[in-house]
Amino acid sequence: MSFRSDSSLPWTPASWRKKTASQQPTYADAGALRRAEDRLAKLPPLVFAGEARRLKRRLADVAQGQGFVLLGGDCAESFAEFSADKIRDTFRVLLQMAVVLAFSGGVPVVKLGRMAGQFAKPRTEDTETRGSVTLPAYRGDIINGLPFTAEARVPDPDRMIEAYHQAASTMNLLRAFAGGGYADLHEVQRWNLASVTQTLSADRYRDLAERISEALDFMAACGITGETAPALHETEFFTAHEALLLPYEEALTRVDSTTGDWYDVSAPFLWAGYRTLQLDGAHLEFLRGIRNPLGVKCGPALTIDELLRILDILNPENIPGRITLVVRVGADKIHTLMPPFVRAVQRTGRSVAWMSDPMHGNIKKTASGYKTSSFDDILSEVQGFLAICDAEGVWPGGIHLEMTGRNVTECTGGSVAVTEADLSHCYETHCDPRLNASQALELAFLVGDQLKALRQNHRAVVEE
Ligand code: PEP
Ligand code: CO
Repeated sequence: MSFRSDSSLPWTPASWRKKTASQQPTYADAGALRRAEDRLAKLPPLVFAGEARRLKRRLADVAQGQGFVLLGGDCAESFAEFSADKIRDTFRVLLQMAVVLAFSGGVPVVKLGRMAGQFAKPRTEDTETRGSVTLPAYRGDIINGLPFTAEARVPDPDRMIEAYHQAASTMNLLRAFAGGGYADLHEVQRWNLASVTQTLSADRYRDLAERISEALDFMAACGITGETAPALHETEFFTAHEALLLPYEEALTRVDSTTGDWYDVSAPFLWAGYRTLQLDGAHLEFLRGIRNPLGVKCGPALTIDELLRILDILNPENIPGRITLVVRVGADKIHTLMPPFVRAVQRTGRSVAWMSDPMHGNIKKTASGYKTSSFDDILSEVQGFLAICDAEGVWPGGIHLEMTGRNVTECTGGSVAVTEADLSHCYETHCDPRLNASQALELAFLVGDQLKALRQNHRAVVEE
């Protein structure tokens, strides 16, 4: 079966410019924008096309039930809060969660950080009003500044260059952690964060780490060590962000010399946000021509017809691993909205990996003005997702979380209960609320438990 789309106009990294691009800033100085784009276009790639291909293979396995994706990190990375400690803390919670999920789920965990490029934010409103003052909305540090002043809110194209350099240093540190021994499985007991040592999940984690250490000792006695099996000593870690700010993505789109294909080398994995899925829009036009694996955010207003047409545009040849559908409809809607998505994809024979983003459909504003989500709603959406995948006969391929290794108070609930009154204690996000380290680890245990049950059911059905 072929899913080739009708839109056969030639694609180039710049062909999106002929379409309407939503969610873009208006730069006042076209010359400054061009100069920033030209500089970016000369800077080295942040990732190698081969890494995008490797991730695509991993995601093709995930689509077949041979893996689970853990994608997590800040809603919006920030210039001001950029530090090695912050990167390390997020990386380390992701490692802990990955161990938990791999141990209970019994499948390899593909690790992706919302890091090293997650700077641009889509906004519902173009402007923000406080009292009698109206200014352009904050669109992420790659575009303008968060302070509510006219000066900060002016979109500045040079911010793209700063974002690139921050992404490069972040990537450098992540590569060092992933390959240099920090992620060695023998260190599993040391990944526990000081901020979560007092929690129930930390106790469960300590138990798990002990069992893993015993298993490693046994393996070493059999001659399998970090030297003979590099997978024990290093980990594979990929980065991901929303492909929102098209001048930045275009400038980092290059021909891969080994295949002659175009890749966006700002990250191996990019996704189309829920607000930029216009069928004839610039974002889908840009994404259709790059060969990276792609995510598509499926929100409540997306129709089945639109979803199928998006798949036609982005994956006309139905290549496995190319598309991950990220469902983010909210805990209250998942049971009505997700099954029709799954059935339509199944009916038309398309290969996709299914992922749950339980963050963006559950955000509420408190009376005191904080954007927050409750741990119970987040958990309930993921549990709904897992149950629906099971009922519909597709593999639940992963979760996409906004989270941090820091002990923030942005989401309510969890076993170390954050209350609404606590939100003001440590509310640091530049955009949406994130799970803190203990909430993130707790979620990993709960998801892991359910994954384990699903796999046992699955095995029982197969053996019957
Ligand atoms: C996001 O992932 O930060 C985001 C804005 O998500 P969505 O496009 O699903 O709203
Ligand atoms: Co967000």
